[in-house]
Amino acid sequence: MSGYTIDHSSNSRRQAVEEWLWGLDLVSPEVREKIVTAWVSSWSSSPYQELAEMPFSPSAPDYRLEWHVNDVTRTGVDLAKRAAADWGAKIDWDVMMSILILHDVDKPLMYTREADGVGYSQLSKELPHGVVGAMLLKELGFPHTVVSTVATHAGNAPFHGSNLEAYVLHYGDYFAADRAMFLAGKTPFYQKHAK
Ligand SMILES: [Fe+2]
Ligand SMILES: [Fe+2]
Repeated sequence: MSGYTIDHSSNSRRQAVEEWLWGLDLVSPEVREKIVTAWVSSWSSSPYQELAEMPFSPSAPDYRLEWHVNDVTRTGVDLAKRAAADWGAKIDWDVMMSILILHDVDKPLMYTREADGVGYSQLSKELPHGVVGAMLLKELGFPHTVVSTVATHAGNAPFHGSNLEAYVLHYGDYFAADRAMFLAGKTPFYQKHAK
C-alpha cells in the first residue's frame, strides 16, 4: 500500500484534467505536463470514476473539488497580480500556478463518499492532507517552494510558509472555501472564532 502511484498514461484522464483546470495557459509547457500528471495520478489512485464525484470537504459534501480548485486558482491569480502591480512583488508564475492548482491534489485520496455523506480515507489517518500532495509533487520533481507550501497549507498544519505564494494561496483558499461553506449552510471559517 503506497497511497498513490504516478500515472503518466491515462490519455482520457489527461484530456479531462486539461479541460477542467483553469490557468494551465499561464504556465510553461513542461510545468503544464507535470501539473496534469499530478492530477491524473491522484485521480487514478482514488476511488472516483469521474472528476465530478470528488468532494471538496466532509463539511460541504455537495461542493465539488473541481469547482473549489478553479475558485482558488482564479482568486489567487487576482491576488498575485495585485501584489505584483501595487507592491512590485516578483511572481514566478510557474511556481505560483503550481501551488494554486495543486494545493489540494491529495484530496481525492483523503475523502471517501459514503451513503450518508463524505468520510475520511484510511490514508488520511496515516498522513495529513497537504503532506501526501507534497510527496507526490516531490516525486514529480516540482521545486522545493511548491513542495513545502503545499505540505504546510492546511489550516491544521503545525506552521505555515512565510513566502508570498503561501499567503496568496491561503487567502484564495479560504475565500473560496467560505463560499462552499455558505452554500452548504455551514459556519464559514471566518466566523469560527468570532465568539
Ligand atoms: Fe487544502
Ligand atoms: Fe483548498
